[in-house]
Amino acid sequence: MRERSFNEPGTAWAGRSRQSFAVLDSTNEYAKQLAAGQSVHGLLVTADAQSAGKGRRGRVWQSPDAENIYMTLCLEPEFAAERAAGLTLVMALAVSEAVCEVTGVKPGIKWPNDLVMNQKKICGILTELIPFADHYAVLIGVGLNVNTTKFPEELIGTAGSLKTELGKAFSRERLIAAVLKHFEAFYAQYEKTGDLSLLKGRYEDALVNLGKAVRVLDPKGAYEGTAVGIMVSGGLLVRDSAGTEHLVDSGEVSVRGLFGYV
Ligand code: BTN
Repeated sequence: MRERSFNEPGTAWAGRSRQSFAVLDSTNEYAKQLAAGQSVHGLLVTADAQSAGKGRRGRVWQSPDAENIYMTLCLEPEFAAERAAGLTLVMALAVSEAVCEVTGVKPGIKWPNDLVMNQKKICGILTELIPFADHYAVLIGVGLNVNTTKFPEELIGTAGSLKTELGKAFSRERLIAAVLKHFEAFYAQYEKTGDLSLLKGRYEDALVNLGKAVRVLDPKGAYEGTAVGIMVSGGLLVRDSAGTEHLVDSGEVSVRGLFGYV
């Protein structure tokens, strides 16, 4: 574990306890091991590089050294596990607001939790729920491309970073502190109702899909429609051409713009 000083996050609990590494296989995997043996609520795990960074749907998350943020915030919520799905949207909102605070430019959110700037994905979030006998843990892994400028062939055109999109480098530590601050405030709102009631408006303000044509890549059959908002559970409401509204709420369902990634 790396010994060094960090920016004081200015939070009551989120990230006040932190484990930081030069390299981990995956901050989510490390957090998972910790969560099995101790209380981890509020613990932040960070790494400068990941040797086996995990993306959604079994993909690899490119994790070059010392350029980006790779972090996992661990939670042990008091509310029922069925209500935890919305937390991934809460983190997306927190990262969006944190980036806005630090850079002056607010990224959009592509439902449910990708952050985009100039139609490029700059941040992905992988949330894992780990059940234990008497409680559960939620591990929210955030990969935010901060200062990276080189991308593998297959990501050129769809991936970006704050540096590629805004033309200058930013402090990873300042961004982390801002994410923790915003997450803690939004989590308090989420806890009050156990859903996104108090955050829905703010989330929809950032939602790039809102009012746009989307293709829902449902394994049971793809369909097209218009994204008309989110439900307080975190699901996306899509209205098809017949006027029927569909609730897209599975993390395994992918939503694409008709003309590209967004
Ligand atoms: C996605 O596919 O969009 C989600 C990417 C999530 C990447 C982050 S980086 C920190 C944490 N540790 C991992 O192994 N994955 C997440």
